[in-house]
Amino acid sequence: MANRKPSTKRPVRRRAVAVLHAAPAKAPPIEQDSAPDGPAAPSPAAAAVATPDRAAAIAQYRSRVPVYDFEIAPAEPMRRRAIARLALTPGETVIDAGCGTGLSLRYLTAAVGPAGAVIGIEQSPDMIARAQARVARRQWANVTLINSPAEDAAIPAPADAVIFHFTHDLLQTERALENILGNLKPGGRVVATGLKWAPWWSPAVNLFVRIAAQRSTTTMAGLDQPWRHLAPLLTGLVVEATAGGGTFLAYGVRR
Ligand SMILES: C[S@@+](CC[C@H](N)C(=O)[O-])C[C@H]1O[C@@H](n2cnc3c(N)ncnc32)[C@H](O)[C@@H]1O
Repeated sequence: MANRKPSTKRPVRRRAVAVLHAAPAKAPPIEQDSAPDGPAAPSPAAAAVATPDRAAAIAQYRSRVPVYDFEIAPAEPMRRRAIARLALTPGETVIDAGCGTGLSLRYLTAAVGPAGAVIGIEQSPDMIARAQARVARRQWANVTLINSPAEDAAIPAPADAVIFHFTHDLLQTERALENILGNLKPGGRVVATGLKWAPWWSPAVNLFVRIAAQRSTTTMAGLDQPWRHLAPLLTGLVVEATAGGGTFLAYGVRR
């Protein structure tokens, strides 16, 4: 048998991403009827609470705020990927919808530069207090924080882009999406990430999704396709599944 020389080439690393939904440039209406990656896991809680509950959400984040930054740390690479997707340029205005404690602000301010602007919108007074402290500490002069439900927020300037990073309740609130996307310039870029049900044959992933969702949302409705209300407002929607199908990254352009 011939002696094979061991290869010196490094193996090509591939990111574990499955594209669930990619609309062509001239997009036909987006098909919303069925979960694109197979049947979703059963979700009894979804039947119980169909829409987000603001008071419950504020109480949820009041108790979670001391440990929030630590708990969300594993999703940091996804945050960076999502922000990179926005392709922000200096001088642009970007909305951080449901900005929480402001963990995205350092990336957003760096991307838009001092001539740009960042608008954070957050309904939890406890979460936004942390964001306000962060802004003061870093002396970011171009960040405006608005403590309001996104559906009622008076957005001070038209924006070029918006990020929804792990904001399931917000994505399930159609009025919030209309208000935010209504304040995006035509062609404005949109990126959304978060939890989603994995296919039924991934029960371990779905157990994780269930536990994480119980901690971070007030409705499990829509976890099969959390981008479902966003989809009709966008063109060129692409949805990628990550983390074994338990999270997603969706992006597109405002219609
Ligand atoms: C899981 S946290 C994500 C926070 C932040 N985006 C991050 O990347 O760390 C979800 C946030 O969305 C906020 N939120 C939920 N519904 C909202 C709404 N309708 N308007 C504004 N904020 C909302 C919650 O208060 C919470 O701070």
